[in-house]
Amino acid sequence: MKLAPNAVSISHMLARQIVEIGDTVVDATAGNGHDTVYLAQLVGPSGQIYAFDIQEEAILSTHQRVVLANLESRVNIIHDGHQNIDKYVNQPIKLVMFNLGYLPGGDKKIITKPTTTLEAIKKSLKLLESDGVVLLTVYTGHPGGQEEWEKIQPYLTELPKEQYDVVMYKHLNRSLSHPFTIMVQYIGNS
Ligand SMILES: C[S@@+](CC[C@H](N)C(=O)[O-])C[C@H]1O[C@@H](n2cnc3c(N)ncnc32)[C@H](O)[C@@H]1O
Repeated sequence: MKLAPNAVSISHMLARQIVEIGDTVVDATAGNGHDTVYLAQLVGPSGQIYAFDIQEEAILSTHQRVVLANLESRVNIIHDGHQNIDKYVNQPIKLVMFNLGYLPGGDKKIITKPTTTLEAIKKSLKLLESDGVVLLTVYTGHPGGQEEWEKIQPYLTELPKEQYDVVMYKHLNRSLSHPFTIMVQYIGNS
C-alpha cells in the first residue's frame, strides 16, 4: 500500500484523521469538486461543507459532482473568493482545505494569489475550533506559485508554537518544485 503518493492524498489522509461526523468544514478552493465531495463524505449527513471558488466553471463543475454524489443537502457552494470566508461562515469550523494554484483543465492564468490566500488563511485560523486544522496543498512550479509561497511562508513560520502546530509534509527525493502539504493545527485551548 502506498502511504503518501502525492500532496493531495496526504492532505486527504490528514483530513480523514481530524474530521468527524457532524463537523463543519470549508473547501477554500472548490475547483472541480473532488475535495468538496471527499470532505462531504467525511462529515456525513449531519455535517456541512462550505465550498468557495471565484470561477463560474469551477462552481458548475463542483455542483455537478456534488449532485452526482447525492450530497447537495450538506454542501453550500459559494461563488466568491475564500478571502471573504467570514461573510459566509460564522460558526467554529473543524477544517479548512486549500488546494492552491489553477483549475486543472481550466485557464492556467487564473490562480490563487499571494495576498488573498494569506488573508483567507488568517481568517480561517480565527474560525477554527480547538484542535481544528488548516490544510494547504502548495504548488511552486507554475508562474506565480513560488511568489505565493514566499508570501505565506513567513506568516506560517512565525505562528506562536503555544497556539499552533505548523508542519510541512514534503517529498525529499523529488524536485524542489514538487507539490507539498502544510498542516496548521490550532492547539491553543488544549
Ligand atoms: C487547484 S484548483 C482546486 C482543485 C479542487 N480542490 C478540486 O478538488 O478539484 C484551485 C482553484 O482555486 C480557485 N481560486 C483561485 N483564487 C481563488 C480565491 N480567491 N478564492 C477561492 N478560490 C480561488 C481557482 O479558480 C481554482 O479552481
